[in-house]
Amino acid sequence: MPSVPVARTVRALRRAVAAWRAAGERIALVPTMGALHDGHLSLVRLGRRRAERVVVSIFVNPTQFGPNEDLSKYPRTFREDRAKLSGLADLIFAPSVEEMYPAGFATTVSLAGPAAVGLEDRFRPGHFAGVATVVSKLLIQAMPDVAAFGEKDYQQLKVVERMVDDLSLPVSIMAGATVREPDGLAMSSRNRYLSGEERAQAALIFRTLADCAADIGAGAPLSGALGRGKRRLSQAGFQVDYLEARDADTLAPPADDQTKLRILVAARLGATRLIDNVAAERPRVSEP
Ligand code: PAJ
Repeated sequence: MPSVPVARTVRALRRAVAAWRAAGERIALVPTMGALHDGHLSLVRLGRRRAERVVVSIFVNPTQFGPNEDLSKYPRTFREDRAKLSGLADLIFAPSVEEMYPAGFATTVSLAGPAAVGLEDRFRPGHFAGVATVVSKLLIQAMPDVAAFGEKDYQQLKVVERMVDDLSLPVSIMAGATVREPDGLAMSSRNRYLSGEERAQAALIFRTLADCAADIGAGAPLSGALGRGKRRLSQAGFQVDYLEARDADTLAPPADDQTKLRILVAARLGATRLIDNVAAERPRVSEP
């Protein structure tokens, strides 16, 4: 299988995309930070279903990392990533930091509204401004017909959907279901930081979410179900940043009659911070 071509500059990316467009082909973009796993690859396959050509961007975006976060430690595995994309993607866009943020760069996308406040934003201030800025740049650089994002990062997905609507970006956003390990742990580039013992423990995150969703589905009050979930994780040695239920569409705190919910969690195990989420459906309260 031939290696996937790599564009390092916006100019080279645009040249490739323009040639496909001229041939009447549709283009999908899958933004990533590399260290690819089956979760990323599922998005590439999703893109393939809606477009003849798939571009995967690999860029570890410095502006979405906080000062005490793992930017320098973030896994960079370009050769392996390129091999994994062989036969799946048509182009890798792998710009340098200077290409994306040349000297003098001074513009960022700022966010407001329920999707962007609380949850991750409380623990990673500025993170979504960095994500929104780089994603809007990537969308404008590649001008794809569709772009695929994973439900694994549900708040990110909602922030991106909102931004694309608000800025009238001409792209449709596709959401890919979370790909999990056999024990339920959501695949993540950060799972490699877990020790053997932590890795075994980590499956409790998904079990807890699944049990919360089942309790809520059976009519348990949110506070009770979430409180039990938090206790269970803390007792097992997790530091829980949040375990919350939100309106699945807007991510606002759910109104009493809102049945479609999303339960989102962030918890630390040793030095590794894990996030995950699941859908939950609350029974409709019948009118008296
Ligand atoms: P990254 O963490 O590399 O993830 C790239 C895409 O893969 C995101 O849309 C993410 O939600 C999705 N993804 C990750 N793990 C997944 C899993 N287990 N199942 C399904 N999809 C999964 O998210 C980012 O990069 C960055 O913030 C980015 C959007 C590229 C902007 O820099």
